Amino acid sequence: MMRAITRMQAWQIASYGGIEQLQLTNVRLPTISKPTEVLVKVDASSVNPIDIAMINGYGSKALNLARQCLKKTDGNIEFPLTMGRDFCGVVVSKGHQVGSRLNLGDQVWGVVPVQQQGCHANYVIVENNLVNVKPVNLSYIEAASILYGGLTAWSAWWITGGLCYKTLCNQFAYNKKVLVLGGSGGVGTLAIQLAKAWNLKVIATCSGDAMKTVEKLGADMVINYRENDAKSQLKNEGPYDIILDCCNTGVEYVQESDCRFNTYITLNSPLLKNIDNHGFICGNAKNLGDLIKSNIPINNKNGSVKWGYFIPSTTGINVLQKFVENKQIVPVIDQVYNFQDLPQAYKKALDGHLRGKIVIDMKSCYNEQ
Ligand SMILES: NC(=O)c1ccc[n+]([C@@H]2O[C@H](COP(=O)([O-])OP(=O)(O)OC[C@H]3O[C@@H](n4cnc5c(N)ncnc54)[C@H](OP(=O)(O)O)[C@@H]3O)[C@@H](O)[C@H]2O)c1
Repeated sequence: MMRAITRMQAWQIASYGGIEQLQLTNVRLPTISKPTEVLVKVDASSVNPIDIAMINGYGSKALNLARQCLKKTDGNIEFPLTMGRDFCGVVVSKGHQVGSRLNLGDQVWGVVPVQQQGCHANYVIVENNLVNVKPVNLSYIEAASILYGGLTAWSAWWITGGLCYKTLCNQFAYNKKVLVLGGSGGVGTLAIQLAKAWNLKVIATCSGDAMKTVEKLGADMVINYRENDAKSQLKNEGPYDIILDCCNTGVEYVQESDCRFNTYITLNSPLLKNIDNHGFICGNAKNLGDLIKSNIPINNKNGSVKWGYFIPSTTGINVLQKFVENKQIVPVIDQVYNFQDLPQAYKKALDGHLRGKIVIDMKSCYNEQ
């Protein structure tokens, strides 16, 4: 008889600091505590900027509050903490309310909300509505590279950018032009493809060496932001319905370029940092102030400045699933690292200049065991 597995390996931190805080630990297997949860054996996962930020304590005040409210903890509110937000793996156990949509042995992909223990571990517990059967046309490595960046791009366009309430008929779509700043990174490569799948006209910026890749993703025009005339090109291509900033240039960059836009969305809002620095009440008051300040119109020329986020959404996962299965979204992978080499993968992500995603391969280490 096979012995039940009770322990697993996980990369965890026991206190905040740099990448050197990461330790490969042998821990108890997480157990399902709600009838709607599934236990997934993780085959691959990607590295995202949030993983590196969280190691340094980013968002800890708000996330600890969320953990306390949701009781999403096995007794320890904060530490040891496991990073990792998106995964591809196999369902090994499920709660009795999960139903027949997901079955034991299914190859799945999904995401883990930021307040929960992450998937840079052999196993992860997650609500079944954040897990789908993996698209058959993707390998497990490719599938692990899409959902976190994809849901960030989806929520930015669809919710923050308001595409959900604007009619997405062809007439609307062809008339709308969007700008993706930072089209070569994890979010940017997916933001371009999503916008093209919705038939939007897409202008994107990136470094010279990434231009071919970004063109292949379908961008109608690619601007090398390192060229001297980049700002005048950006201005000439406008006005834009939405500018999605996937590289933290800040709204000042587009204002200096004299670009016209209806909505500018940054993915680098001060929301969690303000709460970290000033506490929940004063931090949120500062958030309100910051949002109002960034929306004071300059020469009455431009529209609103909004903050975009990763949202773990079933609707978003289904949209991405459909576009991946239709081959309207393809994965872009910069580099794959073995599970044992995870700190090197974090270092590579920290160093920047990524072309798509960094993926951690766990399955290869299972084969060695
Ligand atoms: N709020 C949220 O929930 C959320 C979720 C996901 C990501 N984010 C944020 O969104 C940003 C993008 O994330 P990501 O995963 O896509 O990061 P990433 O993979 O590191 O991509 C950033 C890309 O932008 C390029 N870049 C840098 N400076 C640029 C500039 N001035 N103009 C155009 N391109 C530039 C980089 O390449 P080169 O430097 O070689 O040009 C790189 O390809 C990060 O700042 C991240 O923190 C926020």
